[in-house]
Amino acid sequence: MASHDVKNLSLAADGKKRIEWADDHMPVLQLIRKRFAKEKPLKGVRMAACLHVTTETANLARTLKAGGADLTLCASNPLSTQDDVAASLVKDYDIAVYAINGEDKKTYYKHIHQALDIKPQITMDDGADLVSTLHSERKELLSGVMAGTEETTTGVVRLRAMAKDGALAFPIIAVNDSKTKHFFDNRYGTGQSTVDGIIRATNHLFAGSTVVVAGYGWCGRGFAVRSAGMGAHVIVTEVDPVKGIEAAMDGFRVMPMAKAVPIGDLFVTLTGDISVLRPEHFAKMRDGAIICNSGHFNVEIDLEGLKKMSKAVRTVRPFVEEYTLKSGKKVHVLGEGRLINLAAAEGHPAVVMDMSFANQALGAEYLLKLKKPLAKTVHVIPEKIDNMIAQMKLESMGIRIDRLTAEQKKYLASWEMGT
Ligand SMILES: NC(=O)c1ccc[n+]([C@@H]2O[C@H](COP(=O)([O-])OP(=O)(O)OC[C@H]3O[C@@H](n4cnc5c(N)ncnc54)[C@H](O)[C@@H]3O)[C@@H](O)[C@H]2O)c1
Repeated sequence: MASHDVKNLSLAADGKKRIEWADDHMPVLQLIRKRFAKEKPLKGVRMAACLHVTTETANLARTLKAGGADLTLCASNPLSTQDDVAASLVKDYDIAVYAINGEDKKTYYKHIHQALDIKPQITMDDGADLVSTLHSERKELLSGVMAGTEETTTGVVRLRAMAKDGALAFPIIAVNDSKTKHFFDNRYGTGQSTVDGIIRATNHLFAGSTVVVAGYGWCGRGFAVRSAGMGAHVIVTEVDPVKGIEAAMDGFRVMPMAKAVPIGDLFVTLTGDISVLRPEHFAKMRDGAIICNSGHFNVEIDLEGLKKMSKAVRTVRPFVEEYTLKSGKKVHVLGEGRLINLAAAEGHPAVVMDMSFANQALGAEYLLKLKKPLAKTVHVIPEKIDNMIAQMKLESMGIRIDRLTAEQKKYLASWEMGT
């Protein structure tokens, strides 16, 4: 059996059924897996992946293994691991996994180190904790790493900062920046699963409630639209003037957080930024306000600040902590400020992760096929691969679209023809 540190191997049977359920909704990844099994493009390549250990990730792991990779998986968040999936990956699919739901920070980083112990040639990250650990604490392994991939916006931001400082030791493919990733995963995936996580944690009624959405990027937009669709009054806060106009023209009220706090019932941060909700805001919130985060790291809500201004904290239901402020007012925090869609729900639906993980699998293959190594910076997947994934997805949905005629191709490439 593959080496592992998971909660309980006896959960494997449930995990396997759920992995298969997700697989039925990931037709593009299935096609890639079938081809990988024949062609073995990743044969013998040591890969360390730091991803949310969910049913969808399990199917990516199966695909990489089918392609011949020697794969180790660890969690990219202490609260997102599905323990039954981790067990099944070890027991049924012989994949090394280091991930336990609820692991403390020390165990989280111990697991990242264990994943790195295989001396990876390719890294696969979601948030860049693996790459950052490699560059700070496992420098001796850097020379053996060919390249890596990064799944999410926050990771891409961190890696671009590393590249800018000349600190990045190998090239990275920003999977997040593929159109077939962020247009769909960040928008529709986060949009729906954030609603799902909030409802599972609280049973909150969106209809008629005032929902404050911090950040109108891909994730924020998705969540704002879904909340409005469920009857919520949506307020958007932003720091980017263009996004502010966009939110206003999409029909949402836009205002600074300081103005939104006294009127909001539910606050959701989706910015990738730090201290978006902080003591000056908590102090003005309504009694019973609910706050949560769906951005990558648990830094968007200043929980330390909230703790300091509170006289009591208690868990009132799973994933809900009630902070009683010194003023007597209560504020409810969901999922310890970690991404609520993965903490309290199952993360994105498999249908959407199908495209994200097709990008991961094909991104790894692309890196290995390159004749000339890429520069040590952050790259995007070639548009040809991105469009191919879109085409495969469309076909799997039974949708056909038009093709350009010869006349249209000529017209679109010319400058001479006017009216
Ligand atoms: N929950 C999930 O499963 C999931 C999925 C994908 C991405 N993410 C994460 O969600 C976060 C957002 O991702 P995205 O793709 O939407 O990024 P994005 O860059 O498209 O959008 C972020 C938006 O937040 C705004 N912003 C920044 N600081 C702000 C502040 N202080 N107040 C208000 N707005 C602010 C920015 O102007 C930007 O418009 C990232 O951390 C990303 O990694 C989470």
